Amino acid sequence: MPGTGRTRRALENATGSMDGKVVLITGGTSGIGKATAKALAAMGAEVVVHGRNRKRGEQAAEEIRRESASDKVSLLLADLAVQDEVRRLAKEFEASHDRLDALVNNAGLIADRRTETPDGIELTLAVNHLASFLLTNLLLDLLKKSAPSRIINVSSEAQRQAKRIDFDNLQGERRYGAFRIYGQSKLANVLFTYELAEWLHDTGVTAFAMHPGGVNTNFGKGNRSLMSLLFRVFKPFMRSSEQGADTVVYLATSPEVEGMSGEYFSDREVTKPAEGAYDEAARKRLWEVSEELTGLRAAAR
Ligand SMILES: NC(=O)c1ccc[n+]([C@@H]2O[C@H](COP(=O)([O-])OP(=O)(O)OC[C@H]3O[C@@H](n4cnc5c(N)ncnc54)[C@H](OP(=O)(O)O)[C@@H]3O)[C@@H](O)[C@H]2O)c1
Repeated sequence: MPGTGRTRRALENATGSMDGKVVLITGGTSGIGKATAKALAAMGAEVVVHGRNRKRGEQAAEEIRRESASDKVSLLLADLAVQDEVRRLAKEFEASHDRLDALVNNAGLIADRRTETPDGIELTLAVNHLASFLLTNLLLDLLKKSAPSRIINVSSEAQRQAKRIDFDNLQGERRYGAFRIYGQSKLANVLFTYELAEWLHDTGVTAFAMHPGGVNTNFGKGNRSLMSLLFRVFKPFMRSSEQGADTVVYLATSPEVEGMSGEYFSDREVTKPAEGAYDEAARKRLWEVSEELTGLRAAAR
């Protein structure tokens, strides 16, 4: 039986076997992503962990192998703030795997001040939304070939704070508030999921967005945003990473969500997101803007 008490607790919550399945988890070096990787590896999945730093990535992969008692864990590296690296990640994945059963777009951050990536895009939008948008689209053919397959976008209840996408301030170019821009990127995760589910109708590929709860991870560590301060204050009351991963693991594995798609989940339940997520025009506009900002031309269509 696989390793530590923590892994066992995560496993108690997981359902079904993942033998023969391949999953890719972005941001697998820490927090919710690492806990998800441990649970899925312990269920028998071949887990590809994405990280951006080789040393941290190798340490995380080793810990996941040890705690899940699985040797089917590998590492791929990419800074998701750099679109060429996202493209390379997709290529490397395709070159080394002939199937993808679950893609977990988990990597994310909050930035206390406005920063631009080497592509000239605001960092939060680039990592939290555009990297998921680009990676998902680049891997869609493989996901379709592997159907039934699932895409899980790790969003946040912070999307409620944004209420709607402000296309005139999508990148915080007019005014920048860390929480507002973070919330908007997490609302973008939900809009992207809804639109994606529509495009993927009848393909056997399903898409979900989810909120993991308030989870005690490295999130926001080292920056001075209000959210990071709140994180420090509420740390003792927050969930463990294993608890935060529970709904991700559920969506990646459970037969209960078979046939469902385009839903936002929290604590394994379908939940209503912010009103702005139901704005169909905003969904379509976000897709077009995302295509423009990533240089992607209609890969999904
Ligand atoms: N913690 C919460 O309470 C909470 C609540 C709601 C939603 N979420 C969401 O949950 C997801 C996971 O967060 P977490 O709480 O587990 O935080 P975390 O411990 O900070 O993990 C974030 C992961 O994202 C990776 N990452 C960040 N920027 C990256 C970049 N430019 N390129 C590649 N990887 C990058 C990190 O890599 P490094 O290890 O290299 O830094 C790390 O693996 C995020 O999408 C977050 O928005 C968290």
